[in-house]
Amino acid sequence: MKKIILITGGAGFIGSHVVRRLVNKYEDYTIVNLDKLTYAGNLENLIDIESSSNYIFEKGDIVDKAFVDNLFLKYAFSDVIHLAAESHVDRSIENPMEFIMTNVVGTVNLLNAAKETWKNNFEGKLFYHVSTDEVYGSLGEVGLFTESTPYDPRSPYSSSKASSDHFVRAYENTYNLPTIISNCSNNYGSFQFPEKLIPLFIHNIKNEKPLPVYGDGKYTRDWLYVEDHAAAIDLIFHKGKVGETYNIGGFNEWQNIELIQLLCKIMDEKLGKEAGSSAKLITYIKDRPGHDKRYAIDASKLNKQLGWQPSLDFEEGLEKTVSWYLENDIWLSNVTSGEYLTYYENQYASK
Ligand code: NAD
Ligand code: TYD
Repeated sequence: MKKIILITGGAGFIGSHVVRRLVNKYEDYTIVNLDKLTYAGNLENLIDIESSSNYIFEKGDIVDKAFVDNLFLKYAFSDVIHLAAESHVDRSIENPMEFIMTNVVGTVNLLNAAKETWKNNFEGKLFYHVSTDEVYGSLGEVGLFTESTPYDPRSPYSSSKASSDHFVRAYENTYNLPTIISNCSNNYGSFQFPEKLIPLFIHNIKNEKPLPVYGDGKYTRDWLYVEDHAAAIDLIFHKGKVGETYNIGGFNEWQNIELIQLLCKIMDEKLGKEAGSSAKLITYIKDRPGHDKRYAIDASKLNKQLGWQPSLDFEEGLEKTVSWYLENDIWLSNVTSGEYLTYYENQYASK
């Protein structure tokens, strides 16, 4: 079946994996990637598919209503897979307004454009909103986030994502817009901007820089390989039930410090360094304000209803990830020049 799908944020980390997967797998679909190319968006992430005949790139800002409306007029999209967002908690603490603009106002612009374009003829249409487990708040030692866990966002980032989720549900309820939301745990893998824990620490170990561990390092995250997230999005987009929410997670909880120790061990092996040398770079620093203690996803609905499960165990995924960053030195040095240096200085210098 022919489709013309708008993917927003397709030049970012997860978006580029989703774009690549759909462009390669579904020749009948036209994939239009709309991205503002912020510091986190990089067309180098898509070099391998950029000349595919079913792929089009459009540079633009989802906050710009006129631009978004015109794009919908130009292409009459059948579907939207919405990933564009400001995505880094630390940046949201420094500058919440940018998160409100992109994550909330940008999402509502897309919802309005879809509603206007589809004009109540919703047959075969879908607005798929990609969200995060952080909307559910922070867990204690036990328990998991399920699809019915009440929202309790605690950072400017998670509050903006929670707000966008609420708007998506409001458009489904009020205007019958066909929507699906998925909420995923922490992703890792290739093409992730080195401000997030895993690529940042790989980059720092490579350059023998300190590894800045927030607080006591005993915070817990549930990690999923990014290609498994892209596979889940593909599955939910095609087989998910309109109006539903699906949690996506790795069944893979790690305390930060344990993950960092494992990463150091893999880096020592890959770089041919003496065992224990990378771990010497671990430096405890001032905690992130309002740091969420633990995230852990119950992804059993997606597993039972649609048969999805992660394909890689964590150690295997982390090894692949480390190898990718070491082999893609040019990518890493390109994205860590310019704006990155100022960000790094502001974020870590005084801590
Ligand atoms: P990212 O920061 O790597 O990429 C975001 C992309 O959106 C970039 O290409 C950027 O240029 C683009 N963008 C930002 N503002 C824009 C705007 N105003 N208009 C158009 N494009 C804009 O993010 P990511 O990690 O790939 O996350 C993608 C989505 O998945 C986000 O919605 C995020 O909330 C969600 N998510 C991320 C994770 C994770 O671990 N990274 C986990 C769960 C959910
Ligand atoms: P991050 O990758 O920023 O993802 P999120 O905050 O969305 O979970 O951080 C993952 C964990 O690692 C989180 O508990 C914060 C911690 N962390 C550090 O200890 N030091 C760092 O420099 C960074 C970026 C994160």
